Amino acid sequence: MITYFAPLEGVTGHVFRRAHSMYFRQPDVYYSPFLSPTKNRVFTPREMKEVLPENNAGIRLVPQLMTNNAEDFLWAAGELSDMGYGEVNLNLGCPSGTVVAKKKGSGFLSEPEVLDTFFDQVFDGLSGRPGSGDEMKISVKTRLGRKDPEEFHRLLEIFNKYPISLLTVHPRIQADFYKGRPNLFMFGEALRESRNPVCYNGNIFTPADYERVTEEFPACGHVMLGRGFVANPALLEGIAGEPRSRERLMEFHGRLLEDYGREMSGERNLLFKMKELWFYMIQTFTDGGGRREKLAKRSARRSGSGSTRRP
Ligand SMILES: Cc1cc2nc3c(=O)[nH]c(=O)nc-3n(C[C@H](O)[C@H](O)[C@H](O)COP(=O)(O)O)c2cc1C
Repeated sequence: MITYFAPLEGVTGHVFRRAHSMYFRQPDVYYSPFLSPTKNRVFTPREMKEVLPENNAGIRLVPQLMTNNAEDFLWAAGELSDMGYGEVNLNLGCPSGTVVAKKKGSGFLSEPEVLDTFFDQVFDGLSGRPGSGDEMKISVKTRLGRKDPEEFHRLLEIFNKYPISLLTVHPRIQADFYKGRPNLFMFGEALRESRNPVCYNGNIFTPADYERVTEEFPACGHVMLGRGFVANPALLEGIAGEPRSRERLMEFHGRLLEDYGREMSGERNLLFKMKELWFYMIQTFTDGGGRREKLAKRSARRSGSGSTRRP
């Protein structure tokens, strides 16, 4: 099984990835949170830090791009190729309202014909790029559609026209955000009908979840782990049947605190950064009576952040 660390914007940046790779079993590939190429033809300083090879030493990183403009995509892919990257990923999954309104992320899925033209231009443009051509792989991370899982049939026809190196399917529609259960029926369809390799992504929080998915889809050789991997950075150890180490978790946490402290200005910003992480990590802790949810709820109530937070 090939494993991937999902991109989580604001959480799995280069500082997090470096610390994770130092203390825990690494996935085969980490994905960067999305970069947004624009007409300006520059990456922002924050985006540059994300993809600089020296900030990603010792791990295999695939940078992710979010755009609906083929020229902007090709420009960014070219820059990343010059930095030594052999693959870029297209974000067709982001459900955020502002992104969707611009027909990017999962908003792009509501324009299948435009998406088709986009891929046509991208694959055409790549093959015309001197020196890189076939060397730059394009992978895609998608949802099933914008409003209805049935949209996926048409989308899959489009994906099948192109040599996408890996099609990661998060089997929800945009309107689901991260709620409800992933649509495993439609994922099965993706696996059967896709001409390109397919990766499963969604709601793997425990080794038992991982086993259920891999047993249900034995033909699927790729799994991407997201919130569950942030909540339990030793998730791959758990899947391999190794015991969790409390000390290692503490060292990891200490390393993050130190590195974010150097990276960020002011204790307040550092606190918010750590709270983002604790929001996920607290899910794996129990209170004295072994109750998991109560602890997370209590902490959310205290910080006043409960129901307004992201999933
Ligand atoms: C806070 C947050 C930020 C995310 N940022 C990105 C992103 O930058 N790019 C992307 O493709 N997906 C992003 N996602 C989606 C995740 O990569 C993943 O697809 C999703 O969380 C479902 O997988 P999971 O159930 O294993 O977490 C984000 C999700 C969350 C909760």
